[in-house]
Amino acid sequence: MSQAQQAQISGEACFTRAYAKINLTLDVLNRRPDGYHQLATVMQTVDLHDTICLTITNNQRVQVDCSNPALSNNDNLAARAVEMVRQRFALRQGVRIELIKRIPMAAGLGGGSSDAASVLRALQQWWQLPLSASALLNMAATLGSDVPFFLTGGLALCEGRGEQVTPLSHRWPTPLRWLLLLKPAISLSTAVVFRDLPASDYTDGTYSKTLCSALQEGSGLQLEHLYNSLERGVLERYPAVSQAKDDLLGAGATVVRLSGSGPTLYAPFAELSSALQALNHMQSQGYEVYLSRAINSNTGDVSQD
Ligand code: C5P
Repeated sequence: MSQAQQAQISGEACFTRAYAKINLTLDVLNRRPDGYHQLATVMQTVDLHDTICLTITNNQRVQVDCSNPALSNNDNLAARAVEMVRQRFALRQGVRIELIKRIPMAAGLGGGSSDAASVLRALQQWWQLPLSASALLNMAATLGSDVPFFLTGGLALCEGRGEQVTPLSHRWPTPLRWLLLLKPAISLSTAVVFRDLPASDYTDGTYSKTLCSALQEGSGLQLEHLYNSLERGVLERYPAVSQAKDDLLGAGATVVRLSGSGPTLYAPFAELSSALQALNHMQSQGYEVYLSRAINSNTGDVSQD
């Protein structure tokens, strides 16, 4: 297990971090008979993270105390992950989850899924659960399509409904060294965004294939390789998102893409000074913006070009 993923066990508490992700590409291939969409998506974890502290209680319940009160309930994916482990191993002890939420919710950054994956990993490490890698993956996939990706994080191609994860190794491209994340002041439901997607926005997976080759063969990533099948529809339907994209381009970004089902947009920058200029400009316009960078699953860092 990597350093970035390793839970910190301190006395009776187990601390862990849950990193956000962005989608460098997201090809929606078709709609499946089970209602999900078949995807090819390249995801990368970034250093924006939630902090989770787990403690054992003797009240036989799972309890969530979150810095965002809207998430202090047992529908929270982190609570569902604990409950799943308790049921699988018929454990009686209660667990308290303290959660500092920094990743915006319902934003396309995978925050809830990452919290769930971090809890699964932390409990496996802390309680030495006899779970094979595939059993852990199955539990993760039951919690949500993105959850298996967050068990390893880093850079990966995710296929199927998102749960088939192939880790990718690479040197991180200079044009993507700094990542400005902008969360427009709306929340979007992933289910609604997928439901509203017309078949004319489906692709054959070309964008993800091209990006994978460019990253792995070092054949030179072009910012034009970044693509999201859901972006056109989201920009058309939600003016707050298209306005934010225009404003970010006006602030100096060369390329702006939607992450996941949105509404978060990201803009890559090679130079910190340009990223900071855009950050300050967008903040002065009242936008919620984060300056971030890619983070690897192996070392908690990424190798740069
Ligand atoms: O798997 P998860 O619960 O995160 O998915 C939320 C919703 O997003 C699904 O119920 C489905 O409507 C939609 N979705 C989809 N195709 C995917 C992933 C999610 O249609 N590959």
